[in-house]
Amino acid sequence: MHRGFALRRAAQTDAMFLGDMLVEAANWRAGGVRPRHEVLTSAEHRRYLTGWKRSSDDGLIATGEDDVPVGAAWFRMLPQNDPGLGFVGVGVPELIIGVHPLWRARGVGRSLLRGVVELAGVHGHSRISLSVERDNFAHTLYRAEGFTVVAESPSRQTMVRATG
Ligand SMILES: CC(C)(COP(=O)(O)OP(=O)(O)OC[C@H]1O[C@@H](n2cnc3c(N)ncnc32)[C@H](O)[C@@H]1OP(=O)(O)O)[C@@H](O)C(=O)NCCC(=O)NCCS
Repeated sequence: MHRGFALRRAAQTDAMFLGDMLVEAANWRAGGVRPRHEVLTSAEHRRYLTGWKRSSDDGLIATGEDDVPVGAAWFRMLPQNDPGLGFVGVGVPELIIGVHPLWRARGVGRSLLRGVVELAGVHGHSRISLSVERDNFAHTLYRAEGFTVVAESPSRQTMVRATG
């Protein structure tokens, strides 16, 4: 435990909390209010969680006092014929991250990010990718943690980092 939180491996039983964090990621913009059900059933987002935890899925949960989950980062391998927003190639997993609003700006996100990149390496992946909207400050965190932009659209950036 450091700075009031700890990291543990995400389990199959964490699906509900990962759903909460996926909703946070989708609603990152101040005032973002897409209802949980709408986010979790949207074609754009459901692919990041449906059927969790597949053998190629893995991730970390940050916990606060009494082991209550406060944040999560995980990766999933998506196929070329149904790619995610951050798809860069077959065999490169996509990263998803979210931290409970009350726990933000306390180092949880950076710790999760470092941990999940390492975990992807343990799975034998040499790279990991993500997609972030241009005006989400999270891209500065990703850049600081070694991610680089490999593709851009007017609204989003795809970023990649080597795991080693
Ligand atoms: C993005 C997110 C995961 C980062 O997690 P976090 O726990 O807040 O991040 P950290 O505390 O580790 O902070 C990382 C860096 O971002 C900075 N930061 C944190 N909150 C910030 C904010 N609101 N505005 C600007 N910078 C901020 C921190 O200052 C820190 O940089 P520093 O260490 O150089 O000061 C979290 O804010 C979140 O869940 N946001 C909503 C969902 C989201 O956008 N997910 C990503 C979608 S791609």
